[in-house]
Amino acid sequence: MEKNIDKILKELTLKEKASLLSGGDFWQTEAVERLDIPSIFLVDGPHGVRYVADRHHADPAKKATCFPTAVNLAASWDLAIIEKVAAALAEEAKALGVDVLLGPGINIKRSPLGGRNFEYFSEDPFLSARLAVKFIRTVQKNGIGTSLKHYTANNQEYKRFSIDAQIDERPLREIYLAAFEKVVKEANPWTIMAAYNQINGDFATENEYLLKDILRDEWGHDNLIVSDWWAVHNRVKALKAGLDLEMPGPDPVNDQKIVEAVEAGELAEEKVDESVTRILDLILKAQSTTKEKNELPAAEHHQLAREVAAETIILLKNQGDLLPLTEAKLEEKESLLVVGELAEEVRYQGIGSSQVNPTRLDTHYQALEDKFSEQLKLHYTPGYSSEAEREENENLKEKALREAENKDYVIIYAGLPDKVEAEGYDRDDMQLPEAQNQLIKEIAAANPNIIVVLNNGSAVDLREWIDNVSAVIEAGLPGQAGALALADIIAGEVNPSAKLAESYPLQLEDNPSYLNFPGSSGTVRYGEGIYIGYRYYDKKNQELLFPFGYGLSYTEFAYRALEAPDHLEAGEKLKVKVLIENTGLFKGKEIVQLYISQNNPGLDRPPKELKAFGKIELDAGEKQWLELEVDHQDLAYYHPDAGWIVEADQFKIMIGASSRDIKFTEEIQVESRQRLKALTAETPLEDWLADPLGKKAVTEVLSSEQIEEAGFFKPWPIYRLHFFAADQVSLEEIEEILDIYRDL
Ligand code: BGC
Repeated sequence: MEKNIDKILKELTLKEKASLLSGGDFWQTEAVERLDIPSIFLVDGPHGVRYVADRHHADPAKKATCFPTAVNLAASWDLAIIEKVAAALAEEAKALGVDVLLGPGINIKRSPLGGRNFEYFSEDPFLSARLAVKFIRTVQKNGIGTSLKHYTANNQEYKRFSIDAQIDERPLREIYLAAFEKVVKEANPWTIMAAYNQINGDFATENEYLLKDILRDEWGHDNLIVSDWWAVHNRVKALKAGLDLEMPGPDPVNDQKIVEAVEAGELAEEKVDESVTRILDLILKAQSTTKEKNELPAAEHHQLAREVAAETIILLKNQGDLLPLTEAKLEEKESLLVVGELAEEVRYQGIGSSQVNPTRLDTHYQALEDKFSEQLKLHYTPGYSSEAEREENENLKEKALREAENKDYVIIYAGLPDKVEAEGYDRDDMQLPEAQNQLIKEIAAANPNIIVVLNNGSAVDLREWIDNVSAVIEAGLPGQAGALALADIIAGEVNPSAKLAESYPLQLEDNPSYLNFPGSSGTVRYGEGIYIGYRYYDKKNQELLFPFGYGLSYTEFAYRALEAPDHLEAGEKLKVKVLIENTGLFKGKEIVQLYISQNNPGLDRPPKELKAFGKIELDAGEKQWLELEVDHQDLAYYHPDAGWIVEADQFKIMIGASSRDIKFTEEIQVESRQRLKALTAETPLEDWLADPLGKKAVTEVLSSEQIEEAGFFKPWPIYRLHFFAADQVSLEEIEEILDIYRDL
């Protein structure tokens, strides 16, 4: 295809232009042979390329590496890991002839029940954005496109094609759009996928406010917007709102509607041209990368999938240092019992459009056998079956109990069955299958040396047995080589370092969306506002099973010192240094988190908001400084009247090993040139005091005694003070306050 898009536009008929605006088939754009315009391939690919040639999915997808799913990748908190996976995905896309990968998904995990939580990064927009920026930049640097999805508020599967998510402006901006905003501005994704659901009464694919006003005009996204598959309802409305490409295709009915709308003068042809230009531009970008030249490096990428998985598996509990099972520890030991259907039938990814046909798949039992058979005698018993009735499960449990009695160690593989958490279905509750809970509880009573390995894509309720087992590992859905990575961790060849990218509440009822999830009568109200995840749990001071940012290591880290400024000028980067020491016996990595809170915000803010993180690797006994940086603008919150605003105020900087394990807190005065609203002589004194700059001006002139004396008059305009309280506050003083404020 030739590079001159304007020239092509002139040669295309209106009908041909309209035909380009819906796909050519299930996975490709439309081609126009007459003008040598080729089609390009867009296929799923958040954690592995899923190239399905057949639209009815009758053929399995071509084989590709299944890397750890998004829930795992996020738990690494590691941009270098994301970079490695993204580069490998791009390489596989090239080898398979794919032009655009439909991912990453960055919807916020509003409820633990969300059926696609495993496909999303986090409950926190900052963490989600950082990871997605790295992912997209890397894939695109390698010549493959991405599709940032699902824009937006696609936070549940219940009625996913029609539900109307009703969200106030502040949570919409600060929670559900915030990650998209950062990623669009910093990574410039080749495409963005508009979601299925409605937001405040309009479908995401037809939502002028979200697509045109915010995405295009405010954030400057000038690349393609594609619909989720079959998400377009009113084609002309969608096009007018800014949606370029309808997928899948072809859709001759909708193409014809576009033609008719132009002919009837209801739709400007320029609007059609704008969208065709974006499609041609995408095709050109895709064409500049050579595809299908190389073999897929399956063995090398399997090894990479193993290394990456090891960075994404979280050690949740390790009482009495039961783990790792090092050679030295095993010298006196003889036997290891492996229990659980999931040890053989591994659960390593989720069901739905992200499902990859793996190049290879390792099972847990085999991985343990390979690792430990020289030192231990291994035994296996299923313990439960996801297909079996109660009685059969009782028998399986009894058998496992007998086997467990005289074994040195028991590793139980537990988790959620495939069908429980999948695209298209939310979970009903946070429970593991009853047969598994019962099994773990009873084995724990018989043998204390129990290690439970969990395979699931979102928070689960572990209260039935967590206090009775020695060790728990959250393996998530760790991809095709997850079993090898787990064996590496169990043996201590890899020291676990991952931390939760979502909170684990004690019970579902504690979750802030509980009363409003998943909605009824076609709508879901996001009544909890900005208080989701740890923002809510911290505000309520709620006890948790495991907090956001939590994860253990085989070693210990001491937070020795924090160096932070006590003052930050407007526009300046906040730079801090944390001294971390590995005080344990193993080499290991620590994920350090920086949270902020604002002391006197104009609108209520959460007690903690994540604003930076870093990962540091230290040998046993080693000590090093870790540097963290925060952009001044990242201190902002969204005010419906003023937009994103950094208020001049005192802030707290908190350095933590998790959101609930804060090691240092420092106060810092933050300056800002942004103002919430102009204060005047008519503004009540109480509003002056609530505004950081106003307060500054008032307190420079009036003493705290004067302010206190004014007590009863605080709701009155400030200029009235010299009438009511003339003996305390003079007219000159009020004028001085106004002067100082003007110059701030
Ligand atoms: C999913 C998308 C996916 C698309 C294509 C849709 O059902 O919501 O995430 O990219 O199908 O498979």
